[in-house]
Amino acid sequence: MVIYRAKNYKELSRKAANIICAQVILKPNCVLGLATGSSPVGIYKQLIDWYKKGDLDFSRVSSINLDEYRGLGPDNEQSYRYFMNTNLFNHVNIDKARTYVPNGLEPDPEKACLDYDRIIEKSGGIDLQLLGLGHNGHIGFNEPSHVFPRGTHCVDLAPSTIEANKRFFSSEADVPRQAYTMGIRSIMQAKKIVVVVSGEDKAEILRQVIRGPITPDVPASVLQLHTDVVIVADEAALSQM
Ligand code: F6R
Repeated sequence: MVIYRAKNYKELSRKAANIICAQVILKPNCVLGLATGSSPVGIYKQLIDWYKKGDLDFSRVSSINLDEYRGLGPDNEQSYRYFMNTNLFNHVNIDKARTYVPNGLEPDPEKACLDYDRIIEKSGGIDLQLLGLGHNGHIGFNEPSHVFPRGTHCVDLAPSTIEANKRFFSSEADVPRQAYTMGIRSIMQAKKIVVVVSGEDKAEILRQVIRGPITPDVPASVLQLHTDVVIVADEAALSQM
């Protein structure tokens, strides 16, 4: 694991955006695994800025997002598809037909998950997977459990995740209770993984991810087994190391 210590969120975003930028320049038809949430917002802003300056070209890039709330469609402002469109895709020259997010409106979980695994497989594999880190150690919506789930699956969100994500909804009752998420196997099969972690509230879980035992109780701890992981974190998030 390579750990990059950034002074603050701004520097963290720029550093992680630099790594993604290098990936797109080196392999213009790469497959990016993308994340939502507050951690990557600064990265996406930076990528848009570089695109507008003519330094980046997304025309041949494909993207596969980690997860989507079950029951939310692309027009719902809280859906992850909506997030990706408004925070990145609408502002760069990516072909939206090659941007994938699990279909939150598919009522049959088995079908939704199988369809998504097929998309991942057909893409030929993720070149670079961007991850945020949940307060309970989740990556994607792979919540603490007694196993590492392999493929895309429908998950019951942990109470702590519902609590953490209620800030994006008008009330906690509005937070969907389930999501479709890429599994740990698909994440671990990415050639390169970049994890962005910001803030003191993530310091204790980040310490467990990097220094603790590898256990599905802390899903992100499995990243210790990947051969090409960069953790880009700010000083606050690294304060317990
Ligand atoms: C988002 C995702 C989640 C978030 C995590 C951290 O697509 O899969 O794992 O990355 O919950 O969220 P933030 O960045 O909002 O703290």
